[in-house]
Amino acid sequence: MSDKERILFLRKELAEHNHSYYVLDIPIISDFEFDKLLAELKSLEDNNPDLFDANSPTKRVGGAVLDGFKTIQHKYRMLSLGNTYSAEDLHDFDRRILKLVEQDFEYVCELKYDGVSISLTYENGELVQALTRGDGTQGDDVTENVKTIKSIPLKLKSDFPTTFEIRGEIFLPFKGFDSMNKQRVEEGLESYANPRNTASGSLKLLDTKEVAKRPLDCYLYYLLGDNLPSNNHYENLQKAKEWGFKIPSEIEKHKTIDDVLKFINKWDEKRHNLPYEIDGIVIKVNNIDLQEEMGFTAKSPRWAISYKFKAEQVSTILNEISYQVGRTGAITPVANLEPVQLAGTTVKRASLHNADQIAKLDIREGDRVFVEKGGEIIPKVVGVELKDRDLFSKPTEYIAQCPSCNTELIRKEGDAKHYCPNADNCPPQIKGKFEHFISRKAMDIDGLGGETIELLIQEGLISEISDLYHLKKEDLLPLERMAAKSADNLLLGIEASKKIPFERVLFGLGIRYVGETVAKVLGKHFKTIDNILEADFETLVAVDEIGDKIAESIILHFSKQKNIDLITALKNSGLQFLSAIEDTTKSEHLKGMKIVVSGVFSQYNRTELKKMIEEHGGKNVRSISKNTTFVLAGNNMGPSKKQKAEELGIQLLSEEEFINKIN
Ligand code: IVH
Repeated sequence: MSDKERILFLRKELAEHNHSYYVLDIPIISDFEFDKLLAELKSLEDNNPDLFDANSPTKRVGGAVLDGFKTIQHKYRMLSLGNTYSAEDLHDFDRRILKLVEQDFEYVCELKYDGVSISLTYENGELVQALTRGDGTQGDDVTENVKTIKSIPLKLKSDFPTTFEIRGEIFLPFKGFDSMNKQRVEEGLESYANPRNTASGSLKLLDTKEVAKRPLDCYLYYLLGDNLPSNNHYENLQKAKEWGFKIPSEIEKHKTIDDVLKFINKWDEKRHNLPYEIDGIVIKVNNIDLQEEMGFTAKSPRWAISYKFKAEQVSTILNEISYQVGRTGAITPVANLEPVQLAGTTVKRASLHNADQIAKLDIREGDRVFVEKGGEIIPKVVGVELKDRDLFSKPTEYIAQCPSCNTELIRKEGDAKHYCPNADNCPPQIKGKFEHFISRKAMDIDGLGGETIELLIQEGLISEISDLYHLKKEDLLPLERMAAKSADNLLLGIEASKKIPFERVLFGLGIRYVGETVAKVLGKHFKTIDNILEADFETLVAVDEIGDKIAESIILHFSKQKNIDLITALKNSGLQFLSAIEDTTKSEHLKGMKIVVSGVFSQYNRTELKKMIEEHGGKNVRSISKNTTFVLAGNNMGPSKKQKAEELGIQLLSEEEFINKIN
């Protein structure tokens, strides 16, 4: 056998064993034999670099050390699911669907895995990309890390579509999590808090070898693409199982919402015996045509919903109420608790939200309180055990002065929170502004963290954001724990941030209500900071997605001279204040039109056609309704869609007719 033949044989053989072990859970050979074959393959590959394969089983052990993750646009937005908490909510969901569709339909019930969602792209049967959810529109490219997860196939078996995406959840089973923690403790390190955060942290490690050591697993539950094998979700998943994916076997089809509720109740009991964490049940409409017809709201599909199990609750003693000051000056009261075990983690602190909440529940120091952990990471205090209350306890008096700078707190009408107005001199606010500015989603300055910021402020080296751009190596070297190399790194990171796109600079400024999405909208619309500075209230609210509250906040922000001075200083330092988002509008031929694309086309593919619709001012909609302007119809358009278009008298345009229309 030639080297090449042996390499190809081993790759296939090892992939097969991987599948038996990690997906089917029926090992065929021993770990020892497996490792021997893998070592043989590794050495053959080392001797034959021309036979490189990005998806060889040897990739599973990692090796590459990355210097960061690229942010990549999702082809299909990654949405979340609406939540329900009661049978009543589910009946409402059922009624909404019954109103929308006339035909018979069925539900698919699945477990809701509590991990990190991932989107995998396969081309010609090979894994080519793995993206995290990110903000839903763009995510981090974690492909190299994902390749180390043994239950994710790198190559597929038989009759898969040429290109498709498959989504699922990466998680840490309890057993793996516990053994990781056992090792941490032996090494004298603090234990990891919970499986979900540890899974998410693992995916973001830069050393792929480290990721390979983490016992991550992945269930897949959602397929996307133009040529899926079936018109129903359940069958698609069964097909995906044949291609080699780990598809949950707990999935069931049900015709009525009452049967769905039985499934839920069964798992509410049984979930405590599962080897991994679930936090609810996901209910999906099975038929994909129906899914398309129902479409999406801005945030989630109308054809699916999640049912969240009741949050777990414990009681413990509230030792002390302390107060935190955020970067906007907002005060958050925090409960410091007698440590207690809750849903697999030790809880020491919990949120108390605001003064009203404390007054409403009459929460006092020394009380025995109930603590709950819902979907959020931070647990919250939800009540007080009054019968255990100390006779001499006194009602909580909310602070009137800033715990950090002593300034009198203010509270605006309609705002639940108290604020410290001393934005310019209150230390945690100053630190918070810097931390926000350098954060990953804003300027992403490498080599600069909270501690260094604190040190730089303390030493009087920075007080305004613009000061960062005047730091010199000789300023940094005298600082505690600042080696020459760290100083260089920091300065390089600062220098590199000058290339960060305008939208992220705008987000980094920390204007109230201008989050990532709003910053993008503003950048795309106004193109330059000067246009934003000049815009009055009317001009701002005329922009789609910009409401009164945001507009007022922007005007207020730039009404302050020091904020204008900051922009001038940052401009002088060479930061980006011009949007690089390209204006892709080519014409307004389709302005105001709502267009459904359906079927298979000959000249362009669907994605290209949808892009063209947007470039010419039109809007893509997924389902035909009376508001549809026309259907761009290819071959094999679904019969139910065709019928619906005819019934509503909506025009069908062929690919040629469409091209003529936009030219
Ligand atoms: S389907 C458009 N199915 O829950 C629908 N999601 O709150 C896409 N999740 O982001 C999601 N188990 O990370 C779906 N069986 C399941 C799931 C599931 C867990 C997660 C997923 C999603 C989040 C939504």
